[in-house]
Parts: sequence; structure tokens; C-alpha cells
Amino acid sequence: MAYGKRIDTLCSLLERAEVFADIGCDHGYCTEYMLRNGLCDRAIFSDISKGSLAKAEKLLAQFVKAGRATSVLGDGFFGVGKEVDEVLIAGMGGAEIVSILSDTKTGFIPKRFVFQPMHDSEKLRRYLLENGAYIERDFTFEDGKFYDVIVGGRADATRQTAAYTDDEYEFGRENLAALPQAFVKRTEKQIANIDKYLAVSALGENSRVELNERKKRLQGALRRAVK
Ligand SMILES: C[S@@+](CC[C@H](N)C(=O)[O-])C[C@H]1O[C@@H](n2cnc3c(N)ncnc32)[C@H](O)[C@@H]1O
Repeated sequence: MAYGKRIDTLCSLLERAEVFADIGCDHGYCTEYMLRNGLCDRAIFSDISKGSLAKAEKLLAQFVKAGRATSVLGDGFFGVGKEVDEVLIAGMGGAEIVSILSDTKTGFIPKRFVFQPMHDSEKLRRYLLENGAYIERDFTFEDGKFYDVIVGGRADATRQTAAYTDDEYEFGRENLAALPQAFVKRTEKQIANIDKYLAVSALGENSRVELNERKKRLQGALRRAVK
């Protein structure tokens, strides 16, 4: 793989699937990876933007022609049935991913998913575990910026996730358990930013208290001792 570290990381988390769907595909690199490597029989790639979808249609033209890939112009899961085996949604906000999953007409928890929210990861973790999903991977990685990735699927009798604590919802279970380097680096940067704000003498008392509380939580996360 040589798409760049972020895309390569996402691809490495995808498993073989009969039908794979890439929602918000833009360039379509992950779909290309799945098809080229024989990791799916068929792929559906979709985007809400005609211009974005056109990039993927160009990249994947030979697979579309061969009947192995279908392009869909639409919002979220429009045109993607619940029976799809694996879903990737990457590069959107966590709240946007939640609104796709919870859409009353088209929404569902996929059998298997790889989600890479750009922000609001806590909101997405809560939605997933409160709505019938299990989570098997949940960690931060770095590729210039820091990215959270959440991998899991539709829970059943054999695959369930033990309830998350509030700290695990906020920071990610694997981050707290294993302190991966990217999580430590991001948290140290966040603490350093708070210190910069705290050094501003004109800061109001309420803001100072809030920043100190946030700093304590971040420091606690690094000690794996947040309660
Ligand atoms: C930042 S790009 C990420 C592209 C690719 N998934 C990646 O990770 O590199 C986000 C893409 O999601 C699309 N998008 C945003 N909201 C969407 C929605 N509700 N349904 C489908 N596509 C959406 C945008 O048009 C854009 O192409």
C-alpha cells in the first residue's frame, strides 16, 4: 500500500468482505485497495458531492465496467442496503457519521465497520455502544495530524463490548489501556496549549477553573488513572 499513512492505516483495518461500501469516498482510494487486492467481490462507493464522486468514478472505471463496483450519488446510506458486509466512513465529523447511522429511513449499524471521525469521537462511541454495536479497536494514530479510528460491527451473542467508562468514551478504550505514542503526543500538545492559555493574565476566573479541570483530566488520562 502506498496511499499515505492515513489511508494505509484505514486499509489495514479493513477485512475481506463480499460487499464493501465506502461512504463519502471522495477519491475512492480505499475502494480501489479492496478491489485490487481481491478483498471484496463487489464494492459500492458513494458521495454526496458530484465532484467528489467523479474522482472515484475515474479511478474505479475499470471495476465499474466489469460490474464489480457501483457508484452512488447520495447522502449517507442512500442506495446502500443493510446487508452490505463492511462499511468505511472516514474523514467526516463524528456527529455527521452519527446522523448517517441514525437516519430514520436509511440508517443502520453495519455488520462490520471502520469509522475515522475527524472530531466528536466521544459522541460516535456513545451512539455506537448505545445502539447495538460492538467496538474491537479504538485508538489514535498520527499522519501529520492526529486521527481517531473506531472499528467494530453489529453486536450479536458472540460479539459484545463491555460497558465503557466515561473516560473511555472521552479518550478511547485502547488509548487509555495501551497509551499509544500518537495519543500521548496529542494529549501532551493539548496540555501545552492549555498552559499557554493559563499564562494569559487577563483570563477570567471561570475560564481558569475550566482549563485547570480539563488539564487535570488530560494528565490523568496519561497516567491511566482517570476515574
Ligand atoms: C474529507 S473527505 C474524506 C474522503 C475519504 N473518505 C477519506 O477518508 O479520505 C469527506 C467526503 O465525504 C463526503 N460527504 C460528506 N458528508 C456526506 C454524507 N452525508 N453522505 C455522503 N458523503 C458525504 C464529502 O463530499 C467528501 O467527499
